[in-house]
Amino acid sequence: MKEEDRAILEQNFQAKIDNDIRIEPNDWMPDAYRETLIRQISQHAHSEIVGMLPEGNWITRAPNLRRKAVLLAKVQDEAGHGLYLYSATETLGADREDTIDDLHSGKAKYSSIFNYPTLSWADMGAIGWLVDGAAIMNQVPLCRCSYGPYARAMVRVCKEESFHQRQGFEIMMTLAKGSPEQKAMAQDALNRFWWPALMMFGPNDAESKHTAQSMKWKIKRHTNDELRQQFVDVTVPQAELIGLTVPDPDLKFNEQTGHYEYGEINWDEFWQVVKGNGPCNKERVDARRKAKEDGLWVREAATAYAAKKKLRKQAS
Ligand code: 3HC
Repeated sequence: MKEEDRAILEQNFQAKIDNDIRIEPNDWMPDAYRETLIRQISQHAHSEIVGMLPEGNWITRAPNLRRKAVLLAKVQDEAGHGLYLYSATETLGADREDTIDDLHSGKAKYSSIFNYPTLSWADMGAIGWLVDGAAIMNQVPLCRCSYGPYARAMVRVCKEESFHQRQGFEIMMTLAKGSPEQKAMAQDALNRFWWPALMMFGPNDAESKHTAQSMKWKIKRHTNDELRQQFVDVTVPQAELIGLTVPDPDLKFNEQTGHYEYGEINWDEFWQVVKGNGPCNKERVDARRKAKEDGLWVREAATAYAAKKKLRKQAS
C-alpha cells in the first residue's frame, strides 16, 4: 500500500474514533490498534479464567448452602466472561488455541491480583467487594470502548460484576457484624487484599506504556490513576460503614479536592508479581495447563462427533 493511501486510511480511522463511531471487525484499522486490542482483551479473558481458581478453592468450604450456591454462580459467571472475551479476540483474527497457549507459556499476562492465596472464607468477601469492585470501576468505561465487540461484551459483564461486588460486600458486612473472631477474619482479608486491589489498575500513568495511545484510540476512557482514585473514593467509606480499617496509615480525606489521599503502592511487589514471582503464579498457570490436558478427551470426542455428524449429513 502506498504511504499516502495509508495516511488517508489512518486519518479516516482516527476521525471515526474522535467522532465516537464504533470500529467493527470488518472495518479497516491500524495493525497497532488491532494488536493492542488483542493484547488487552486476551489478558482480560485470561484474568477471568484464572480468577476462577482462588474462588473455586472455597466452593467446597462455603459455610452454608446459600453461600455455596452464590459462589458457584459467581465462578460460573467468570468462566462466561472469559469465553465472551476470547470470542472478542477472535473477531480481531486471534486464534483461540494460540491465545490460550500464550497464557500457559507465560507469554501473556493476567491480572496480578489472582496470584495471591485465599486463606479464609472472608477472602471470598474481600475478592467480591474489592476485586470485582475494582473490575467494575475499570470495566464500566470499557462499555464505551471504541471497538464494538469489546464494548458490547462489557455491557453484559458489568451487569454480572455488580452482583459479584454486592455478594462480596454482604459477606464482609455479615462477618464484620459477627463475633470478634469473624470481624478479625474480615479485617485480615481487607489487610491482605487492599493493596493488591489498588495494583489491579496498573502502573502509575507516568509509568504506563500503553495509556496515552489507548486514550487516543478511546480503548481507555480514563487513565489508570483516575480509575484507581475513583475506586479508593468509593471503597473507603464502605469499609468505614462496616467498621473495618483500610490498612493505609497515610490515608486521609482532602476536603479541598474531595478525594482520599493514600500511601505509596509497593511497585516492586507489583512488578515482581507481574513478572511471575508472586505467591501463587506457578500454581495458577500449572492449574490452567492441567485443565487443558484433562479436557483433551472432551475436545477429541466433540471433534469426532462433529466429523461423524458432517459425514452422516453428506451421506443423506
Ligand atoms: N496485572 C498484570 N499485568 C498488568 C497489570 C496487572 N494488574 N496492570 C498492568 N499490567 C501490565 C500490562 O498488561 C502491560 O503489559 P503488556 O504490555 O505486556 O500487556 C504493562 O503492565 C503496562 O501496563 P499499562 O497500564 O501500560 O497497560 P494497559 O494500558 O493494558 O493497562 C489494564 C492495564 C488497566 C489492566 C488494562 O489492560 C485494562 O483495563 N484491561 C481490561 C480490564 C482487565 O483486564 N482487568 C483485569 C481484571 S479482570 C477481573 O478482575 C475479573 C473479575 O470478574 C474478577
